[in-house]
Amino acid sequence: MKISVIGCGYLGAVHAAGMASLGHEVVGLDVDTDKIARLQAGKVPFHEPGFDSLLTEQLASGRLEFTTDPSKVAEAEVHFIGVGTPQQKNSKAADLSYVHAATDSLIPYLCEGAVVVGKSTVPVGTARALRSQIQQAQPSAELIWNPEFLREGFAIKDTLTPDRIVYGVADGAEWAAEKLDTIYRSIIDIPTPRLIVNMETAELVKVSANAFLATKISFINAMAEVCEATGGDITELADAIGHDVRIGRRFLNSGLGFGGGCLPKDIRAFHARSLELGLDESLDFLRLMDEINLRRRDRVFAMAEELVGGEGALAGKTVAVWGLSFKPDSDDIRESPALDVAGRLVAAGATVRAYDPAAMQNAIRQVPGLILTESPAEAAEGAEVVVLCTEWREFRELDPEAVITRCPGKRIVDGRNCLDREAWVRAGWTLRSPGRPDLAATE
Ligand code: UDX
Repeated sequence: MKISVIGCGYLGAVHAAGMASLGHEVVGLDVDTDKIARLQAGKVPFHEPGFDSLLTEQLASGRLEFTTDPSKVAEAEVHFIGVGTPQQKNSKAADLSYVHAATDSLIPYLCEGAVVVGKSTVPVGTARALRSQIQQAQPSAELIWNPEFLREGFAIKDTLTPDRIVYGVADGAEWAAEKLDTIYRSIIDIPTPRLIVNMETAELVKVSANAFLATKISFINAMAEVCEATGGDITELADAIGHDVRIGRRFLNSGLGFGGGCLPKDIRAFHARSLELGLDESLDFLRLMDEINLRRRDRVFAMAEELVGGEGALAGKTVAVWGLSFKPDSDDIRESPALDVAGRLVAAGATVRAYDPAAMQNAIRQVPGLILTESPAEAAEGAEVVVLCTEWREFRELDPEAVITRCPGKRIVDGRNCLDREAWVRAGWTLRSPGRPDLAATE
């Protein structure tokens, strides 16, 4: 089938290539000429394992092309909208200007019986309003809301073998759902659960899933605060409660907390939407989840400060930061807790030697005071303290005995609770981890 994907950022670019790999003819449309030129040349504008080869293969197949010309989508029967919905500059609500611009650019080219499929994360109520707008211009067209649940680092897997597919469908629009089934046929046949719900439910499925994940992380980080005050150990606690299958161990990793382009802005936008709906109390807990999350950064910063002598002691000291991206296997620094901590260390007057396997070029644009290095060991050179902020495998697999020869301070804050503590302490390090008792080096 001929389809278009409007918005070729993370979500849209991966979706376009993924749909081409299922055998469809796909045109990806975006207003960003630079991004489109790069994608058309097979160059991936972000770090995503496996996406380079998928993109190259699909461009070579002739089924995939990228353009800035909206008229090129005119032949498509189905149009996916995958533009971003960032946080507004002056409020916590979602900025829908890209969704509106995408819809406006698409409307003149909608053919009879066209199906528009919304994938962006939007406040509940948006889809029904967009449907009215589309049908005023093209009465035979239909809109389905089909939220996307992809995780960075797993984008291809999550696109082609998702946990579930959700369609938000208006009454009488079953024909449009059948058309979407045709596109997703090989995914549905894996089999993948496919749920048909109303439009409001579909919009809510996405934001409530992200709200639940954020809550799970902030819950364990709140328990970390209690462990710190009482001598408990958050990792052992998470392991123990995670054995209960009703709770589950995943997303109970305590540390610097969540960041990225989705969870932080989505819980804020969901809370803002609840206030508009007059539900001031229903989602007030999301405001608290955000606060718990942001407090973890204060805590990790304070741990580094305490290790070098207390308040104000970071000024003039050399500090190593390992990890700048918001999570491993990503070069994304949006709302990155790691970069926030690195920036605070710079602001405190420390000389910050940083290393990240993928995010350094993005990071230096935001925090120009960082000294970028070629490896974690080089970052640790001359440092009073190392602060591990993102749990890249490269850091977890380091030899603590080799790195300690470079780091005169012999102190480390494991901000992600990902190191083998005993091994690091045996090698002579003094180690602090949020939510866990301190371990001093045993000489
Ligand atoms: C998230 C959702 O998982 C995905 O379904 C949605 O479509 C988009 O938002 P993503 O932003 O790629 O995906 O990251 P995710 O893997 O969910 O991690 C989010 C943040 O939570 C990261 O900063 C990560 O470090 C943190 N995290 C995750 C924890 O602090 N502890 C955990 O146990 C898990």
